[in-house]
Amino acid sequence: MNTAVTGFSKLSKDAKIDWIANEYFANPAEAVAIIKQYWNSDIRLQQLHDEFIENTITNFYLPMGIAPNFLINDQYYSVPMVIEESSVVAAAAKSAKFWSTRGGFKATVLNTEKIGQVHFLFKGEAGKLQKFFELKKDSLIASTESITKNMQKRGGGILSVELRDKTSELENYYQLHVTFETKDSMGANFINSCLEQLAKSLKEEALHYNEFSPIEKDITVVMSILSNFVPNCIVRAEVSCTIEELAEKKIENPQEFAEKFVQAVRIAEIEPYRAVTHNKGIMNGVDSVVLATGNDFRAVEAGVHAYASRNGNYSSLSHAKIENDIFTFWMEIPLALGTVGGLTSLHPLVKMALEILGKPSAQELMQVVAVTGLAQNFAALRSLTTTGIQEGHMKMHLNNILNQYEATADERKAIAKHFENHTVSHASVVELIEYLRK
Ligand code: MEV
Repeated sequence: MNTAVTGFSKLSKDAKIDWIANEYFANPAEAVAIIKQYWNSDIRLQQLHDEFIENTITNFYLPMGIAPNFLINDQYYSVPMVIEESSVVAAAAKSAKFWSTRGGFKATVLNTEKIGQVHFLFKGEAGKLQKFFELKKDSLIASTESITKNMQKRGGGILSVELRDKTSELENYYQLHVTFETKDSMGANFINSCLEQLAKSLKEEALHYNEFSPIEKDITVVMSILSNFVPNCIVRAEVSCTIEELAEKKIENPQEFAEKFVQAVRIAEIEPYRAVTHNKGIMNGVDSVVLATGNDFRAVEAGVHAYASRNGNYSSLSHAKIENDIFTFWMEIPLALGTVGGLTSLHPLVKMALEILGKPSAQELMQVVAVTGLAQNFAALRSLTTTGIQEGHMKMHLNNILNQYEATADERKAIAKHFENHTVSHASVVELIEYLRK
């Protein structure tokens, strides 16, 4: 039975590690050694990482890979991806190459509006609140001026503030529903600061509003926070070519391939069990670029999945059609991303990732991320509807199994040769290792 600890955050880093090692490991010295093995020898760099979060004990590595040859709006990109799943980068690179000789990807940002809300309780007449809001709206917005000044210089700021009556769903519940333009920043801090100021001003203005009764004057602000649901911050990514152009080594009958592909997308459009996995494949691409560029993948995930169920049923994010012998595959997804602020100027690898992408604007990054998601989805559906997913996946996973069994160089050579013309499975690899070791 493990014990509770008090004042953990106040312990030094070494003391925290000692406590963890002694509390949870039979061999504390070995645990300490593993934890410290991942420290960076550059003390400044280590300190930078230590300070990203609280109670840091070490670094947790994820591989960063590059998927080259992404032709997006007639410009080539090498896309940095951070992900642990073996076949994802290879699949993205394969898709990128495939489409680079078929016109490339087209991407368009449709809109960039962010949303935040002040959630509050008002015990009184809705009509009086509406009148108060109309009278005070300008001064509420004016009260955020010191926060919005710089953003306004960059062409952003508060776009609208609306009073929403939600009392039919929850007693006394109203919102200030606020929309924002945050240009190249993701804008979470900016939005939350504006909202907290709006909430404060709302309370103060109500307190001094003579037409309110004492109870009406006492507005309760429950919370002020941005929404990660951004259905008006949408980017569209698309590929298209003639059916004939789809032909390649593994696509001998392009008409049959295109029809099956469209059918696979239709299944994801109507069947939630499939849609979730289908969209997970899209998020393999999306998340890995979001992570590499220091953006908030949890925010993106939450927003994308909410968008995928905006019509009441969870559905495919991507769509496909064949019209007049033209195959078109596209998706529209919400992406609230930043290329300034946050980790973008702090994490050295994030800075590099952005540099590899040519220091993109937030809108350009939205396009790259959406395209990587679509490319990933194309690769998955191509495998699923032709060879099956395991052939490529297990080939990539082979290395993980060999590492797990600490295979020697000679064993690796023999095993690689064997699996050139055999299907990889976990059991068959283990069997072969055991055979070689007899
Ligand atoms: C695996 O990470 C992703 C896939 O399952 C996606 C899909 O099924 O479309 C291959």
